[in-house]
Amino acid sequence: MRVPFVAANWKMYKTVHEAVAFAKQLKNAAKDIVDVEIVLAPPFLAVHAVADAVRASGIAVAGQDLYWEREGAFTGAVSAPMLREAGAELVIIGHSERRRLFGETDETVSRKVHAAFAADLTPIVCVGETLEARDRGETLSVLDQQLTRDLDGLSSEQVGLLVVAYEPVWAIGTGRNATPEQAAEAHQHIRQRLRAWFGADAADQCHVIYGGSVKPDNTADLMSQPDVDGALVGGASLDVTGFLTIVKTTHRVAASKRT
Ligand code: 13P
Repeated sequence: MRVPFVAANWKMYKTVHEAVAFAKQLKNAAKDIVDVEIVLAPPFLAVHAVADAVRASGIAVAGQDLYWEREGAFTGAVSAPMLREAGAELVIIGHSERRRLFGETDETVSRKVHAAFAADLTPIVCVGETLEARDRGETLSVLDQQLTRDLDGLSSEQVGLLVVAYEPVWAIGTGRNATPEQAAEAHQHIRQRLRAWFGADAADQCHVIYGGSVKPDNTADLMSQPDVDGALVGGASLDVTGFLTIVKTTHRVAASKRT
């Protein structure tokens, strides 16, 4: 059974000081919550300090991106081994904001996924359709195209370890979340594809999480869908109380799905 997984993507929010204050507060408030994987993805500058702050708490830290080379003359870039050494255990790759605003392609996503595994970082690979693609009825074919390219060359073992985040672009930062039915359809499709391409074990182990306007009050409906294993939370993760409510709700719903 997959442990529920809730990650906070802080995007370009929070200074080091603010990030550490949040991490300490969350560590204290979440100390009795077990059987849920909690991940904080701060801006690069705060990765090291947040990893220090949550040490020995069960809360893990993720980078929001990386560059695939180990080191070199790549001004502004951060490599997978650097993130790992700073205390990150995971890394978000291929977020739609990186694709749309910074020229990320499926080819660069794939290189980054391989670089992450090589440095012992768990990739959280983001996929999702635009509103135009959904309106044209192309949601599932867009997911197929992204997944085929983004996961190219991975072994079944690697796919079993990674996290796929289904984030419909039209739901990100808009307050308009996917309906539970829309999420269920996409997640079920992703799981089926993983099963066909990488085998039953990999598909059963891989976490498929939902992102896009997850809020405390819509978490239960989204998380109750069979193939939704957790959430990647943007705006609502900036506030400790709201994020903790999402974590607790995900935990409760996952426990009820098991019975
Ligand atoms: P919002 O929760 O702000 O819609 O952002 C979702 C997201 O992009 C998480 O990666």
